[in-house]
Amino acid sequence: MKKIQVKVCQGTTCYVMGGSGSKSILDTLTEKYGDKIEIISVKCFEICHKQDSFSKAPYVYVDDELISSASLEKVINVIEGKLKNE
Ligand code: FES
Repeated sequence: MKKIQVKVCQGTTCYVMGGSGSKSILDTLTEKYGDKIEIISVKCFEICHKQDSFSKAPYVYVDDELISSASLEKVINVIEGKLKNE
């Protein structure tokens, strides 16, 4: 089975805006989904540099789907949706 890629921004803007890359979120995702997902830390998606995008941080990609204002709940909802469609 192909793993779902969860790319988490570890950049300053995303950190300041809610810390989607915080250790507790990463630990929760790893604990809940184990080897069904692959978590990749990214320095900055460069999205935060665009006008109007700053306020929508933090950002997370689940495969090709971009999640803005990414909370743990939002990320889990997208992952669950993908797992149901497999
Ligand atoms: S810091 Fe997250 S997109 Fe730039």
